[in-house]
Amino acid sequence: MRWLLTLVAALSVDVYHLASTPVQFQNVSLFWSPQTFTLVHSATEAVLVDAPIVAENGTDLANWISKTAPGKTLKYVYITHAHGDHFNSFPQILAKFPGAQVVATKGVIDHLPTQYEPPTWDGLWQALFPDVQQANLSLVKPLSSSADFFINGKSNKKFEFRAILVGEGDTTHSTVMYVPSIDLVVGGDVVYGHCYQWLVENLTPQLRSQWIASLDQVKALRPKVVVPSHTQEQEGFGPQHLQETQDYIRGWGELLAKAKKWQELEALAKARWPDRIGSVVLRDSAEAFFGAAA
Ligand SMILES: *[C@@H]1O[C@H](CO)[C@@H](O)[C@H](O)[C@H]1NC(C)=O
Ligand SMILES: *[C@@H]1O[C@H](CO)[C@@H](O)[C@H](O)[C@H]1NC(C)=O
Ligand SMILES: *[C@@H]1O[C@H](CO)[C@@H](O)[C@H](O)[C@H]1NC(C)=O
Ligand SMILES: [Zn+2]
Repeated sequence: MRWLLTLVAALSVDVYHLASTPVQFQNVSLFWSPQTFTLVHSATEAVLVDAPIVAENGTDLANWISKTAPGKTLKYVYITHAHGDHFNSFPQILAKFPGAQVVATKGVIDHLPTQYEPPTWDGLWQALFPDVQQANLSLVKPLSSSADFFINGKSNKKFEFRAILVGEGDTTHSTVMYVPSIDLVVGGDVVYGHCYQWLVENLTPQLRSQWIASLDQVKALRPKVVVPSHTQEQEGFGPQHLQETQDYIRGWGELLAKAKKWQELEALAKARWPDRIGSVVLRDSAEAFFGAAA
């Protein structure tokens, strides 16, 4: 008798990298951060994590999926958190993959409409990306309370995807996507690479401590591969991103104690993290702490 065990994880991970783009903000030329969108696929099915804000970038991502996982069925588009730059072009993904389901946790879904209301829609998204169009949010479906979903591989093998509700990240009700069989975490905006971190929604020390605690939750999963959503192309996907994101939050608190106006905070941050990019995120964050944001 022969016992045949095929227990080897048969999932592939590919990352689409959207380059940093020049933007106008309060009549100043600055840069939007680069972004990643992660495709996890078995021999037959696939999951996409997040979608860009601009429609033509969503179309480019959809075309990239066809090339990267030819013939495979895109089952899910998972939205990590309710920021426009992580979901708004999902209709362009659905246009190419009409069978896919766009899913998120209930907490994220409840928070999505804030992106289409003032001051975020007009003051941020339309200001930075003048051609931006709103998506039909009723197409986003809540995950069951277990927050697990699955895709199939060969021989009826099932692969688990687990939404981890960490809570505070750079926004409220943040999640990361955990794929236990390959020790993968797709970090959304809980985990940053070397890009300035969005602190506009973390004005109090309590909120910043909660974000740090969320990163401790992710560390406890002991992931081997960690994909931050805002990261530079050459950085790689190691777990060091978790510690570095925490160091930035603590460092920001130190700079805040020294700065007397937003211009000083911005200059101190540039000096402390000269290798980080995404200057519009730094500008808006620095202004927010002194009540000067648009
Ligand atoms: C930007 O420039 C335009 C035209 O020069 C001006 O009308 C507007 O008030 C400026 N906006 C800001 C936020 O400075
Ligand atoms: C993303 O969209 C911008 C327009 O906002 C465009 O200039 C850029 O080329 C697009 N990038 C890709 C990879 O399609
Ligand atoms: C949004 O999608 C829902 C569900 O498919 C549909 O019933 C509704 O008509 C759509 N709304 C618009 C404005 O397209
Ligand atoms: Zn983001």
